[in-house]
Amino acid sequence: MSTIREPVVIHKGLDNVYVKESKICYIDGEASKLFYRGYSIEELASHSTFEETSYLLIYGWLPTESQLDQFTGKLESYRVIEPRLLDLLRKLPPKSDPMDVLRTAVSALGVYDPQPATDDLDARIDKALAILAKVPTIITAFQRLRTGSDPIPPKGHMTQAGEFLYMLTGHEPDPHDVHVMDVALILHAEHEMNASTFACTVTASTLADMYSVITSGIGTLRGPLHGGANEAALRTVLDVGDPSNADSYVVDALTHKKRIMGFGHRVYKTWDPRYLILKKLGEELAVKKGQTKLFDTALAIETSARKHLEGTPIFPNVDSYSGIVFHMLGIETDLFTPIFVMSRISGWTAHTIEYLEANRLIRPKALYVGKIGLPYPPIESRSGKPQE
Ligand code: CMC
Repeated sequence: MSTIREPVVIHKGLDNVYVKESKICYIDGEASKLFYRGYSIEELASHSTFEETSYLLIYGWLPTESQLDQFTGKLESYRVIEPRLLDLLRKLPPKSDPMDVLRTAVSALGVYDPQPATDDLDARIDKALAILAKVPTIITAFQRLRTGSDPIPPKGHMTQAGEFLYMLTGHEPDPHDVHVMDVALILHAEHEMNASTFACTVTASTLADMYSVITSGIGTLRGPLHGGANEAALRTVLDVGDPSNADSYVVDALTHKKRIMGFGHRVYKTWDPRYLILKKLGEELAVKKGQTKLFDTALAIETSARKHLEGTPIFPNVDSYSGIVFHMLGIETDLFTPIFVMSRISGWTAHTIEYLEANRLIRPKALYVGKIGLPYPPIESRSGKPQE
């Protein structure tokens, strides 16, 4: 019997496929523009805070002072993690990848919640906010446990950025470091229908609970073509080691068809506006921390890559400097993608809620090109090889 073929177009990678209307994020990939709920990323990075931006993304408007106080108070009340979760973190192998730990921990939060599933959208937001607030506590607790120290509980009255830096070391963080971290969180909070946001949307469309939704996002974000690129980009800069090695690295990589991490984007065909902001922050931080060689090496890679990729739409993306910034803040490389989660939960939540307001189960199709109607062979007569 012959294979069934339908006259269809296959959208591999779902390039240019729209899955919903949205009022959350607008990207102009040709003009280097990014807006959250209508506000430009440059305005938000200059004037907003991560908490305020999260509120904007999730609820749709910039909060009044009392709305913001209530929101930050809620996050603060959720930030502590229960002893059962700490026990679980203690039992995980210290060599675990922190993204695996985070995925496991967020999933476990769902097990500890007596009522993880709800149809009520406000209750869903509340569960997401609890996860958002707990993620810095989980990441820092695991970081301390794996280095033989005791976890430090949140201090209270601090922002997501400040608490994260505080719980890593137990020291009051430098206000400029907190500012840089805060801006980095704003820049990573949302980015339209990227792979992890789509994964969250698919999971939510089945009416699964928010723990499952966010766990899906974490699993999807961790790949090196998505959130994991920031770690890979920093490792490249550290391996290259000196600006004088940059050009030979780039030429070798491009000759061998290897990708330069922190370059290229499915949507931006010019400069990623987040990259421009992070590069400036990175330059300032490099001078402040006396790490100009690291920054200069990244800059030399960028200059060389742009020279050799001239005429292509491959430009630096957000990840070309985010890893350097986090590294200069004293953060371990494998915590960079967990930091991305610590911020992107806002965008995942905003899109999930927006989609659920007019839900439709996401169920695309695959065009079957195999055989059908084959006779079932007895085990002793099977070839043990793929079908011809
Ligand atoms: N270095 C060298 N060549 C590249 C790169 C790169 N970073 N990115 C794309 N290309 C080339 C690619 O080899 C291909 O060339 P050819 O047509 O000769 O085979 C061409 O550009 C088109 O590649 P593509 O994979 O079809 O392009 P895409 O738009 O699907 O790629 C991407 C998007 C992000 C997967 C890709 O640019 C990439 O792998 N970049 C490196 C990883 C990275 O930095 N990811 C972070 C993305 S931003 C943060 C986030 O959203 O999570």
